[in-house]
Amino acid sequence: MTAPVKIAPSILSADMAYLARDLGYIANADLIHFDVMDGHFTDNLTFGPDILRAVKRVSTVPCDVHMMVSDPDHTVDWFIDAGADIITVHWEASRHLHRTLHHIRERGVKAGVVLNPATPVSLLEPIIEDVDIVLLMSVNPGFGGQRFIPQTLEKIRELGAICARHRVSPMIEVDGGISAANIGEVVRAGANVIVAGSAIFVPADPATEVERLRNLANEALTERRA
Ligand code: DX5
Ligand code: ZN
Repeated sequence: MTAPVKIAPSILSADMAYLARDLGYIANADLIHFDVMDGHFTDNLTFGPDILRAVKRVSTVPCDVHMMVSDPDHTVDWFIDAGADIITVHWEASRHLHRTLHHIRERGVKAGVVLNPATPVSLLEPIIEDVDIVLLMSVNPGFGGQRFIPQTLEKIRELGAICARHRVSPMIEVDGGISAANIGEVVRAGANVIVAGSAIFVPADPATEVERLRNLANEALTERRA
């Protein structure tokens, strides 16, 4: 029996002046997607570990920390200490990926690797047995509200084939430009963790949007199984 699809609202699209309120709106989510950007790897700067500590004080939803930073090997411990439940680091930014992934896991946190849209999934072959999660970017990292890059669907399918060959089943997460209009095809391609920022926080009732996306995702999952 395949596990249900997880919905991970990205608080990049939350109202920072009312973060505790917005976290309350998404108490029905499976994960909180926490986008860390350092102004070097991305043209944007977001949250440090103290913000993660603040999130952990007001929400019991597990935190999925997406590290869009130039030197994740150096900074993952800050976020582990602050309470991260999952940490993903970019393949493009990690000098010692194998070591970093093992370090994250040894500290009791789920570890994963992220690929930018132009990075081929075949590069994951040597590391696929060492990850709990793979995150495929379906936009170029940096900002919410961008358009989904359709070539991602083929990358999700290729990743599924690599996992099957290695007899492993990490979570497959997709991030960027996902809404009610395309979540079905993303899940049918093989994703089981869906990040959504603007699709959840722009509408007036984020909790309803989480539920709507989850229902659409699980319908698509049934079709995938059929
Ligand atoms: C982009 C971030 C995403 C972003 C997604 O660099 O990694 O998590 O918040 O936002 P939407 O769902 O609006 O594309
Ligand atoms: Zn993200």
